[in-house]
Amino acid sequence: MMIKTVEITPFKDQKPGTSGLRKKVPVFQAPGYTEAFIQSIFDSLEGFKGETLVVGGDGRYYNREVIQTALRIAAANGFGRVLVGKGGILSTPAASHIIRKYGAYGGLILSASHNPGGPKGDFGIKYNVGNGGPAPEKITDAIYARTQEIDRYKIALFNDVDLDKTGTFDADGLTIEVIDPVADYADLMETLFDFDAIRSMIAGGFKVTFDAMHAVTGPYAREILVKRLGVAPELVLNAEPLEDFGGHHPDPNLVHAKALYDTMMGENAPDFGAASDGDGDRNLIIGKGIFINPSDSLAMLAANAHLAPAYKEGLRGIARSMPTSGAADRVAEKLGVELHETPTGWKFFGNLLDAGRCTICGEESAGTGSDHVREKDGLWAILLWLNILAARGQSVKEVVHDHWATYGRTFYSRHDYEGIETDHARGLMSALEDKLDALPGTSLDTLTVERADSFSYRDPIDGSVSSNQGLRIFFEGGARLVFRLSGTGTSGATLRVYMERHEADPALHDQDTQEALAPVIAAAEAVAEIRERTGRNAPTVIT
Ligand code: G1P
Ligand code: ZN
Repeated sequence: MMIKTVEITPFKDQKPGTSGLRKKVPVFQAPGYTEAFIQSIFDSLEGFKGETLVVGGDGRYYNREVIQTALRIAAANGFGRVLVGKGGILSTPAASHIIRKYGAYGGLILSASHNPGGPKGDFGIKYNVGNGGPAPEKITDAIYARTQEIDRYKIALFNDVDLDKTGTFDADGLTIEVIDPVADYADLMETLFDFDAIRSMIAGGFKVTFDAMHAVTGPYAREILVKRLGVAPELVLNAEPLEDFGGHHPDPNLVHAKALYDTMMGENAPDFGAASDGDGDRNLIIGKGIFINPSDSLAMLAANAHLAPAYKEGLRGIARSMPTSGAADRVAEKLGVELHETPTGWKFFGNLLDAGRCTICGEESAGTGSDHVREKDGLWAILLWLNILAARGQSVKEVVHDHWATYGRTFYSRHDYEGIETDHARGLMSALEDKLDALPGTSLDTLTVERADSFSYRDPIDGSVSSNQGLRIFFEGGARLVFRLSGTGTSGATLRVYMERHEADPALHDQDTQEALAPVIAAAEAVAEIRERTGRNAPTVIT
């Protein structure tokens, strides 16, 4: 194998965030930038000579180029085999499954998730470990440390590999297998759910629509929803993956998937509507005439999971990220299983899943998943919902109202202030942090503070501690307010404000969410001076 060693000077900004390294495409295109990061990943790992690496991405602009680079650097560093999705495509949950199924050493997932794509859009590289999940902080910290002193990368000199044909190729000693990105994943889904029951529900006239947002899940939806389950092909929308997602944000929320929302709220709406994001790990669920917020969806899936074959023995526990609402906690309590509260980001669930301490996990940011892989999984959530609806023979609305009647309703919302100046965002957070100790007993607008803290997490499996994971304010009566800065943005800072309030009285369950949360929203403004410090009158996105 012809290997070239190229000298470089470190790039100082290669710190992985909540989910890998995310930057604008032109940043990754700077000479040596991508190479330096991939080499830093490999320099932080041990014992992978001759082992298998999985490589794939969400198909966004620059995906193919980075895959060719990754193959050459993997070869030069001694990997024995690389499994790469045809066309360079692998959804994030599919990549996680492939790593596990084929016993790979790890994988590189190329994605910036729900962020926009294209020549001026976002790109990202994330390293996943052998359990199929995102590298834990110990490894991402080591990668970052390495990026700060790296002085060379090694690259093999072979021609571009044809990514559009499945098959096995020898690239100068490295075995490259271009695999069908969909088949293994679709087969896995069939082992988890009652496809017969879902198929007959759909054959009986239950209408399902899915918006792939021109992102990675189009081919997965065609195979699973249309071919295996009988969903009408014309109800699978935007199924062609595009490098720029058709110019949209492939973010399945009420802003970017508004068309789907409008359809589901309109006359003659289908029975069930769903969408997924750029890399296929998030989900949006909307029933006919009813949107389900992701925190509620987690709770409802957990409460009903036993209706699907994979979970018929029950759950071993539920895990949720700290800003996610407490709706799932009530389900865990009723089921008599453990509830874990972790920092934001899927990497914190890996240890719990590996140790069998939880079966279902979720985040308020439209991520839900289980122990079948080590990533959140958009289509999995959609299929579990369909399985539950088929088993219960009820509409989404009926299942939701039944859940609220049993557990009460947790009103929940997140307000994002995107693209604010980094200094202003940091200033707001540090001023708030300074105030926390003095808050208990005081009033914020109409609410009285019970306690306040900065969230810190001690992993119960390996004992590692992650501090500064968000500022929390708990109010008398049970409402909660959380502030944190996003770790996935690529320009400026994004302030996220999370609000929730539990309402036990069914007569009050039909209120508008923003109205039901008005006192908490007012308290947020009172304590953090959001308008004054960000210069914004209103959030950019409300979920
Ligand atoms: C966001 C979400 C978080 C999710 C992550 C990756 O991170 O809030 O729940 O795990 O994207 O999809 P943030 O930008 O808040 O750091
Ligand atoms: Zn994603």
